Amino acid sequence: MAKTPGSLQHTPEGELRHFISIDGLDRAMLTRILDTADSFIEVGERTIKKVPLLRGRTVVNLFFEPSTRTRSTFELAAKRLSADVLNLDIGTSATSKGESLSDTLLNLRAMASDMFVIRHAASGAAHFIADAVTPDVAIINAGDGRHAHPTQAMLDMLTIRQHTGAFEGLKVAIVGDIEHSRVARSQIRALNTLGVEEVRLIAPDTLLPHKPEALGVRVFSHLEEGLRGVDVVIMLRLQRERMETALLPSEREYYKLYGLTTEKLARTAPNALVMHPGPINRGVEIESAVADGPQSVILGQVTNGIAIRMAVMSMAMSGQLAERQRESARNREGTRS
Ligand code: NCD
Repeated sequence: MAKTPGSLQHTPEGELRHFISIDGLDRAMLTRILDTADSFIEVGERTIKKVPLLRGRTVVNLFFEPSTRTRSTFELAAKRLSADVLNLDIGTSATSKGESLSDTLLNLRAMASDMFVIRHAASGAAHFIADAVTPDVAIINAGDGRHAHPTQAMLDMLTIRQHTGAFEGLKVAIVGDIEHSRVARSQIRALNTLGVEEVRLIAPDTLLPHKPEALGVRVFSHLEEGLRGVDVVIMLRLQRERMETALLPSEREYYKLYGLTTEKLARTAPNALVMHPGPINRGVEIESAVADGPQSVILGQVTNGIAIRMAVMSMAMSGQLAERQRESARNREGTRS
């Protein structure tokens, strides 16, 4: 029987060994990730930005979809942990000669890789791969289809905690193309698990997921109304590459109704944080004055991405190593008896 992402992500002893989804992780585990990331922030401020936690380990970055921030911060995170990093260029790899994903992965596993960081257009890809390579290789999901982008959600949680101190009592609005957003799915889970007061989704009907209330959120179709009194506003890009049909009249119309401008931002609680996972489309979902304004923490999110990725990689690697050691001890016992 296929394991759920939750059970697959933990070793039987409860350590993290893959990071595939926020689902199945409890508040204590999410808090441990945030606290570990906090301890890595200082490493990024040193002249020599390195710690030896992953020395001698091999991390393979496998990005089957475009990426700027996520790919480069994963690479930097692995390097700051002293790992050997291999960036597989999918465009020039054997995948373009028709090799299947499973065969590519079996070959990479045969090179004694310890960790794969994977971005893939298919929802469930990271889980499928983790199921196939446990316990030899740890899997970190860098975004799978519309399903999940858990490191993005965690770097967002770190940014929120840095600025607000705690999650209790916060109202957080997620605005825009929620239907196609793996980021929003992971954020909703993380925010609810960490105990915010309210998560609001603000979007036109065509960009809302099916049965949004089941996600534990309040839904608004009117931007000004939904923004009233919120402490954090998370803007999302229109992810046209994932839209099968035209779901919007025009970008101009969309900006008029759902674009975050200085005027609309005035509806929030004073000094509400403005966030965006990037890439931002100025004049489509956000006004430049807001993206670059005093309430924007968008570039801080990018910086925090390195610390979160260092945290998740070091935690999963240590869980996976512990599991591998227990497995070889069991095998030794088996051959002796
Ligand atoms: C997001 C993604 O790829 O899901 N970007 C990111 O990882 N920083 C969001 C997006 O593409 O709009």
